[in-house]
Amino acid sequence: MSTGESVRKLIDKAHEFNESLFKELSEGKISEDEWFEINSQYFTEHYLASDNPRGQSGHGGNEHGYFHSHQMLIDVIHKSGTIIDVGCANGYLLESLHRWVTALGYYKLTCHGLDISQGLIELAKKRLPEWSNHFYTGNAVSWTPKEKFDFVCVKELDYAVPGKQQMFLEHLLEHFVKPSGRLILGPYSEETSTSTRYGLVSSWGYKPTGCIERSNHKHVDISRRLLWWDT
Ligand SMILES: C[S@@+](CC[C@H](N)C(=O)[O-])C[C@H]1O[C@@H](n2cnc3c(N)ncnc32)[C@H](O)[C@@H]1O
Repeated sequence: MSTGESVRKLIDKAHEFNESLFKELSEGKISEDEWFEINSQYFTEHYLASDNPRGQSGHGGNEHGYFHSHQMLIDVIHKSGTIIDVGCANGYLLESLHRWVTALGYYKLTCHGLDISQGLIELAKKRLPEWSNHFYTGNAVSWTPKEKFDFVCVKELDYAVPGKQQMFLEHLLEHFVKPSGRLILGPYSEETSTSTRYGLVSSWGYKPTGCIERSNHKHVDISRRLLWWDT
């Protein structure tokens, strides 16, 4: 199987899981609290089963693939400041961003992470003890930080139940992002021929301030995309 096919299979698998869960939710078979609990268990089990830090944050490839998929974040970190990864898993994205930004030498980042999975936050604290006071367990759709951040990263809006993703975006903009701060959505994967998330958030009245796109390093039909909003 080519890398493109395996990436598409992973996207399809995640969609299948989301769709079957959404069906149960919309048919009233599970409550919203149960939806979050099942999601949290899914992430915890799958990520903790991996033997490397990339897998423990949901990335299936090697370090080169990881860098290729995430380096566009460096382009949108344009000043020193505080950053929170909403849905930080084991903290690997924060750790990587801190390493890359420090190596470039222009800016300094103070890192924070939030995740719904207690098991993953425990792992993040163990892996990155110097930041252990900056890792929080909570549900991002309702949790509010004591202080706002210069940069707020969230990989997907589907951390909220379907139908409440606009509220989630508004919650992040209102409670997480400092004035003159930046909310960053992505990098996420999408079929190159569609622009689903851009269209969706724009239809809600939240046209992004900017966007970046690059093709998957092995498959041109799949794009890695990132959107951001300046407050
Ligand atoms: C795909 S991983 C992203 C990891 C990391 N941010 C990255 O980009 O590499 C998604 C993470 O979001 C967490 N998550 C999902 N829904 C959440 C919610 N409602 N509140 C907080 N965390 C959530 C999951 O537990 C999982 O660790």
